[in-house]
Amino acid sequence: MMKDDIKEVLVSREQIETICKTLGEKITEDYKDKKLLVVGLLRGCMPFMAELILNINLYTELDYMVASSYEGGTSSTGHLVIKSDITTDVKGKDVLIVDDIIDTGLTLKEVKALFLNRGAASVKTCVMLDKTEGRKENINADYFGTTIPNKFVVGYGLDYGPYYRNLPYVGVLKEEVYKK
Ligand code: IMP
Ligand code: MG
Repeated sequence: MMKDDIKEVLVSREQIETICKTLGEKITEDYKDKKLLVVGLLRGCMPFMAELILNINLYTELDYMVASSYEGGTSSTGHLVIKSDITTDVKGKDVLIVDDIIDTGLTLKEVKALFLNRGAASVKTCVMLDKTEGRKENINADYFGTTIPNKFVVGYGLDYGPYYRNLPYVGVLKEEVYKK
């Protein structure tokens, strides 16, 4: 069974619920009197985004983009591929990009630049996890839940080719799983 593959839980479900509440309230306050376009980066943004938006008390539009820099492995390929674009026109809108984690920073940097290029009024970023030591690009998330050490993690949206996204917490896999 899936959960038998987990060596250690890094962020519990309860912690993630608290993170979503805290971030949602902060975003609601920061964007007061504004409307928001939340763009989730699939597939990792789910279920973090689902929980986050329930804590945002603003008129909020949702859209999704499929972007990938990993291709099912355990390290970034250094190149972002947009496999499916949003259908919303971002011109003049306040955009919040949501993803599971910021690692090298490549994904958020490129998607942010793209939306600014298309004429968004503002673009901010929100992630559940910040792997600070992994950073290669000059970007930090405007909102993040918690920092984690430079380990490969799975769960709550994060996968190891292509499983574990539905694990209800963030954890580290047992070494033997990588040998399978
Ligand atoms: P970045 O472009 O290097 O910042 O990476 C962001 C993307 O890499 C995220 O959307 C994840 O899909 C993936 N990623 C980064 N670290 C991990 C991890 O520890 N486990 C699973 N996916 C990860
Ligand atoms: Mg991802």
